[in-house]
Amino acid sequence: MQVRGAPLIGVAGVYGVALAMRMDASNDLLDAACAALCETRPTAVNLRRRVDQVRDVLIDLKPEARAERALQLAHQIAEEEVGLSQRIAAHGLALFEKAWHRKGERGRLEVLTHCNAGWLATVDWGTALAPVYLAHQKGIPVHVWVDETRPRNQGYLTAWELRQEGVPHTLIVDNAGGHLMQKGEVDLCIVGTDRTTAFGDVCNKVGTYLKALAAHDNKVPFYVAAPSSSIDWKIRDGMTEIPIEEREATEVHELSTNDAQGRRSVRVTPEGVNAKNYAFDVTPARLVSALVTERGVCPATAEGLLSLFPEGHR
Ligand code: MRU
Repeated sequence: MQVRGAPLIGVAGVYGVALAMRMDASNDLLDAACAALCETRPTAVNLRRRVDQVRDVLIDLKPEARAERALQLAHQIAEEEVGLSQRIAAHGLALFEKAWHRKGERGRLEVLTHCNAGWLATVDWGTALAPVYLAHQKGIPVHVWVDETRPRNQGYLTAWELRQEGVPHTLIVDNAGGHLMQKGEVDLCIVGTDRTTAFGDVCNKVGTYLKALAAHDNKVPFYVAAPSSSIDWKIRDGMTEIPIEEREATEVHELSTNDAQGRRSVRVTPEGVNAKNYAFDVTPARLVSALVTERGVCPATAEGLLSLFPEGHR
């Protein structure tokens, strides 16, 4: 959790391979490093995808050429992720402009997001937050409802980022979204994804599914910013096929803070209480209004994805 967010984990994983190759560029260490890195975060497909991509190149090279090539590939993949985010920003902007127009260009464009899918979770810009930043820069008066995203509170990162970018925002507890949608206070939801199936199911931070249900019930568009680096073409059914990362129960039991004295935690649950800590959940494709990819916006269906990524299903 020193490095988090699906696209960033993928890029950091590749830099990890490059570091390993500086220590020992043998086949054994290449395989051991790739396996160890992939085990750290099972849900986001980016990590395995990017590590495998680099391993496939390195394995055909002589050991002495591997460290330098791995570093080149890491830089290249980092740049590629920046490009994906930039293009998602542009395609997402079109959706924001339409929503703003539908609203009669009055008041503010009210956006709700969950977790952190901004520049702290990618390499630059972000996925779900990229269109927010661009819309703000283009003069659309965006206001963002930021779910705090218990227990790791990635919403604090989102709020911090939005503040740096000067985007008006309000932090809310995770369960407030449904209430806001019932009150007509949300014009659209947009979230990131850690793994999108070939059929459009989306796995993202736990709680995303409940937001999608509330959005569906209240006819609020629910968009997912999905770079191709997060699409798992081998998987059809998100509910049964995506491994859901489970984290330590202490994250649920404890409240933590970072201050000048370092990180401190205090247990707030009664002794003897059990806790479970599922980090992600799956939102079925039928609850996703559209996927915003780097190649455009498409329905969350196999056909929709195929129309933009014909090569994906091969
Ligand atoms: O567990 P984290 O903090 O790595 O999770 C981050 C998320 O779930 C993000 O929403 C995400 O990776 C989607 S895309 C940036």
